Amino acid sequence: MIILVTGAGGMLGKDVCLATAKNGHTVIATGRKEGLIPLDVTDTRQTQEIIAHHRPDFVLHCAAWTDVDGAERDHDGAYRANALGAWNVASAASHIRAGMVYVSTDFVFNGAKNQPYTEFDEVHPLNVYGSSKEAGERLVRQILPDRHMIVRTSWLFGKQGNCFPKTILRLAESRPEIPVVADQIGSPTYTPDLAAKLIELAENPLSGTYHVTNSGQCSWKDFAEEIVQTAGLATKIAPITAAEYRERFSSPTRRPAYSVLRHLSLEMRNMDNLRSYSEALSEYLRAD
Ligand SMILES: NC(=O)c1ccc[n+]([C@@H]2O[C@H](COP(=O)([O-])OP(=O)(O)OC[C@H]3O[C@@H](n4cnc5c(N)ncnc54)[C@H](OP(=O)(O)O)[C@@H]3O)[C@@H](O)[C@H]2O)c1
Repeated sequence: MIILVTGAGGMLGKDVCLATAKNGHTVIATGRKEGLIPLDVTDTRQTQEIIAHHRPDFVLHCAAWTDVDGAERDHDGAYRANALGAWNVASAASHIRAGMVYVSTDFVFNGAKNQPYTEFDEVHPLNVYGSSKEAGERLVRQILPDRHMIVRTSWLFGKQGNCFPKTILRLAESRPEIPVVADQIGSPTYTPDLAAKLIELAENPLSGTYHVTNSGQCSWKDFAEEIVQTAGLATKIAPITAAEYRERFSSPTRRPAYSVLRHLSLEMRNMDNLRSYSEALSEYLRAD
């Protein structure tokens, strides 16, 4: 297959390109960074031209505005990247009858459920980032009703970008104690594991919505403790509340208190779940 990746210079995009090539597919790596085929997904004409020129079988749409606090300050910017971007990519894919994987987020939920969200639960985003990603979901479903897969994931970490474990390890070098939020629960997800599943879905397409995260759940504080312990460090993790975090770090964003995703679509299709986030974290810490 020919697979075109948007946002190929991002944390997930890079691992998706690696997974695509590993599975023997041809990868068309696009993005705004040097070394990639230039593609700004907010540019309607450029998106049409690049996708029509390369004629991929599938577009794996990893490009997104991921600055959650920044989205609260620039609503239009977030919607342009996440909604118009998805709209452009889906329209261009539609013209050449390609399939599309749209990577979405646990932030489409408000966290009030207290048990894992399935793909069939109603969405209620609490913040602009979540709303703009959810708008992207709707556009993709409308434009490509029979050739889309919406894949919601959460708490990404990987070697190819800035992520929570990297920040904790950096802070642990200079601080005896790190304050971390203890009242938000989710599922950390390792980008190489997610990337492999995205390719598996493209190889076995069935239009619909999917939840894909590593297995297991924890708070950010639990995750930070696991990171320092697995790395063999003595740094103490001090629990704080999400409200304290928002005040201390001037964050304007409301985040869901509970955003664990159940992988019901994968289960119903008899597809394997990803391994536990703890196993993935050990691999992340062992990798150079
Ligand atoms: N990170 C998480 O915890 C998380 C959780 C749930 C879901 N997700 C979703 O997972 C996907 C990948 O996220 P990530 O963590 O890999 O994010 P990332 O590292 O920030 O990568 C996003 C990429 O999108 C590119 N991009 C932004 N606007 C663009 C535009 N207009 N045209 C083309 N490229 C553009 C960025 O390029 P520049 O570097 O040039 O800006 C960047 O390379 C996103 O859809 C995100 O919403 C992420």
